[in-house]
This record gives sequence, structure tokens and C-alpha cells, in this order.
Amino acid sequence: MRLARLGLAVLLASPAFAPAWAQEGDARAGRRLAGGRCAVCHGNDGIAVQPDAPNLAGQNPAYLAEQLRAFRDKVRLHEQMNLMAAALSETDIANLAAWYAAIEVTATPPGR
Ligand code: HEC
Repeated sequence: MRLARLGLAVLLASPAFAPAWAQEGDARAGRRLAGGRCAVCHGNDGIAVQPDAPNLAGQNPAYLAEQLRAFRDKVRLHEQMNLMAAALSETDIANLAAWYAAIEVTATPPGR
């Protein structure tokens, strides 16, 4: 068991397995990309404009990147999103995640 864990640690520490979410995104570049391709459903400000699309504004960037990779690699299945993510590079994903994460949102729970 201990050996297996050590093996995993070594694997994760090698540059080839550096977690892709460690890549810092460029929010401006992400904004440009999103404006053309994503805003039609997710809104210019990351607040969805289609009833079946989720809000992305203020979302955790690691989560966003993980979901985009999952759509791209067809690990998460959704016809539209699989298409939208199919050609995204790791840089695109980091930039898009940085952009949506950078949008400030506030949450106000309803009063009782
Ligand atoms: C045609 C509408 C449409 C377009 C265009 C679109 N999306 Fe989506 N997106 C959706 C829908 C619908 C879902 C919900 C998928 C599901 O139900 O699993 C979604 C889900 C997502 C999620 C997962 C959110 C979560 O909470 O898990 C991310 C991230 C995302 N989209 C990013 C993008 C990005 C980035 C682009 C542009 C490259 C984009 N989308 C373009 C409709 C769209």
C-alpha cells in the first residue's frame, strides 16, 4: 500500500502529470473567447440567458476547467457542450475558467 502511494506521489510530481488547473488563465483572453462562443447561452456576464444553461459567473476556476475538460473528453456527456468544448486547448480552458471566475457575484439568500 505504502509503495503504491509513493508511486502515485512520484507520478503526480512529474511535470507531465502537473495538474492542468495549475495553469494560470488570462481572463481577458477568456473574455474574448467567451464573447463569441459561449455568451449566447451563458450570457455576456456569465449569467445564463438560456433556461437550461447554468450560470458560470463567480464559479470556482478549478471546477470550471475540470468540467470543460470533461466535456471536451466526453467524460461528461451533453450534446451542445461536447461540441462547444471539442476544440478547446488547455490554454483556452484556463483562460475561460479565469474569465468566468473573475466575474464578481453576490448571493443574497431569501429572508425568512
Ligand atoms: C448552445 C448553448 C451553449 C453554449 C453555446 C455553451 N454552453 Fe456551456 N452549457 C450549456 C448547457 C445547456 C449546459 C448544462 C449541461 C448539462 O446539463 O450537463 C452547459 C454547461 C456548461 C458548464 C458546466 C457548468 C456546471 O455548473 O457544471 C461549463 C463550464 C460551460 N457550459 C462552459 C461553456 C463555455 C466555456 C462555452 C463556450 C466555449 C459554452 N459553455 C458554450 C449550454 C451552452
